[in-house]
Amino acid sequence: MVQTLPAGNGSFSKFDRIIADLTDTGFSICDNFISPLLVSNMALEARTLHKRGAFRHARVGKGASMQLRPEIRNDRVLWLDPENPTAVQRPYFLDLETLRKEINRNLYLGLFELEGHLALYPPGASYAIHLDRFIGSMERVVTCILYLNNSWQNEDGGELKVYEGNEPSTLPLPLQVLPHGGRLVCFISELFPHEVLPARRDRLSLTGWFRIRS
Ligand code: OGA
Ligand code: MN
Repeated sequence: MVQTLPAGNGSFSKFDRIIADLTDTGFSICDNFISPLLVSNMALEARTLHKRGAFRHARVGKGASMQLRPEIRNDRVLWLDPENPTAVQRPYFLDLETLRKEINRNLYLGLFELEGHLALYPPGASYAIHLDRFIGSMERVVTCILYLNNSWQNEDGGELKVYEGNEPSTLPLPLQVLPHGGRLVCFISELFPHEVLPARRDRLSLTGWFRIRS
């Protein structure tokens, strides 16, 4: 089942919860994965970088076939170097490294490295239904999306909408997830087609993909 229990209940850590969900359904929502203070600091830093012009219009596809397709996605992204996070981002990247090792220890996925970007969706921006694993590519195995929007309201929209893929699922799909600050959504990349619905506020996130060696 999809549960949104706060992280760190009793002796069951936020990592245990995510591993249990990934094992059970392939999909996990973990609220308060990082503290509200860290959300604020990461959001402030992302906005500062955006104001300085560090973000670019997101592209779709890979390698030589990368192209601007605003009708598919019109967010702005800043690709990150997971080996060199900023001081503000470091605690989150350390948590992701713990998560990677826990997933490998429990699910034997052989996750090897991370790629990631900050994404800013201006009001009205969206990302049409897609899978995170490129056709003909084995690389992206687990998607991790951390939202950086404090005091997000239902009316603000911007839901992540998750659909049933080729595999039957016990989840109540389609599912809509609001991008609340500190919420981490994690899923097996190839299982769930998903889209981002338009919001009426700027919508900030840090999306990461754990990859296997290609
Ligand atoms: C993506 C994506 C979802 C979200 O960047 O591939 O699907 O909720 N993001 O930001
Ligand atoms: Mn995606």
